Amino acid sequence: MHIRWLLAFIVSSASLHGISFAEKSESMDINHWTELQKGIAMGHLLDNVGDSGKHTKNINPGCIIASPSDNVPNYYFQWVRDSALTIMTVIDRFLEGDQLLDPIIIKYMDEMVRLQKVKNPSGDFYSGGLGEPKFHTDGSSYEGDWGRPQNDSPALRAMAFIKYLNHRFDHGTEPHEVVPYIEAVLADLDYTVSVWEKPSFDLWEEIQDVHYFTLSVQKTALQEGAAFAMRIGARDQSTLYAETIHPIDLKLGEFWDHQSGIIKGYKNIPNRSGLDCSVLLASLYSKEFDTHTLPTLKKLQESMTNSYAVNQGHKQLIGRYLEDVYDGVGSSIGNPWFLCTHSAAEVIYKAIQYYDSYGLPELTNHNIQFFVEFAEFGDPYNWPLIRKNMIKYADKFLQDASEFHGPNGSMSEQISRVDGKQMGALDLTWSYSSLLNAIYRREAIKRTE
Ligand code: NOJ
Ligand code: NOJ
Repeated sequence: MHIRWLLAFIVSSASLHGISFAEKSESMDINHWTELQKGIAMGHLLDNVGDSGKHTKNINPGCIIASPSDNVPNYYFQWVRDSALTIMTVIDRFLEGDQLLDPIIIKYMDEMVRLQKVKNPSGDFYSGGLGEPKFHTDGSSYEGDWGRPQNDSPALRAMAFIKYLNHRFDHGTEPHEVVPYIEAVLADLDYTVSVWEKPSFDLWEEIQDVHYFTLSVQKTALQEGAAFAMRIGARDQSTLYAETIHPIDLKLGEFWDHQSGIIKGYKNIPNRSGLDCSVLLASLYSKEFDTHTLPTLKKLQESMTNSYAVNQGHKQLIGRYLEDVYDGVGSSIGNPWFLCTHSAAEVIYKAIQYYDSYGLPELTNHNIQFFVEFAEFGDPYNWPLIRKNMIKYADKFLQDASEFHGPNGSMSEQISRVDGKQMGALDLTWSYSSLLNAIYRREAIKRTE
């Protein structure tokens, strides 16, 4: 573990050992709690990063495991999606000034440049291999059956690379000094342009179709990519990426369901309403903020508060989607997930950031209920009051999830809907990165209060 985070981890876990926010709430307010979690969650996250983490001693440098759990379930692999999302959290800390994280980011990027060239069941570098969802920790291809390809992954990886490279360019690095990274970005973006209309497996690895989340991150990657390509002088590529954004946008619009007043994660899937936490995740990785996201979130939360016994009719633990049957190991009943609950909080903080900058959206039949409710049934344009209540609502997701942290803030993938026990893969890397994202987003809006 990184020394600075190790220190933060030791100090904070000594003071917090086994204590959830709820138990501590009388003596510790949420500002203090989130401050402590920065060190704790980052410590756990870095434990899963090769080859310096506690759980990652004998794996490839730069490989990020989804979880140290190597049996029932076996998550001891590198998923391209999970690792891209995780490294973006690390890059954010680096951009805020933690220079010591630089070698970790570089190792990740070197590993990804290498992985792109590994022939795998989806194909090779030139023929579809970039859509392969997961690899062994030694960087070899996973040959077993799997839902492949998963076309959100290359888009997310490109976003991570661009985030880092833009910073380097801002600080004097010349494109010719980082050619292998630039080639990696362009390969992922070219792939994205060539596949966005084709069905692929969704981020939950279950449905082969065209999905809201996948399209949404593809759009963001191409938006970032068009500017990036221009910056490095790749004009044709820039034009190609820019031209693909509009058709993706039109497709994304089809997921808004006027009748039910929600953005759906997918359309026409038997036995699925389409109400899905992936829509929240999509919002977090989008450069815009869709006004229908909050009403969608509210509906998702209300249905899950009512359906999961562990929520006792008032808690706000969120799962992937109501019809889920994946229990973290096999199929029985689905549960709330830490990462989904954290993401719900973060979406609300993001909405606040957005409305602080651009003002409240035009009120429509679909969003008015949300704003009236948060205005305590008064003036739906009373932003200070709405804002205060939205923060309270968002914070409650974090507080409710914190009750189910293990000793030292450990988080698995899921929380049993029945008795609140942690379920599924232990120490899921994404559980930590999603908490950190929510906490830092919260801090950003608190700063502007
Ligand atoms: C494992 C996948 O990772 C998970 O998302 C999925 O729900 C189950 N397999 C069931 O297909
Ligand atoms: C199952 C989740 O559904 C998927 O999104 C994730 O990538 C893998 N587990 C690994 O964490």
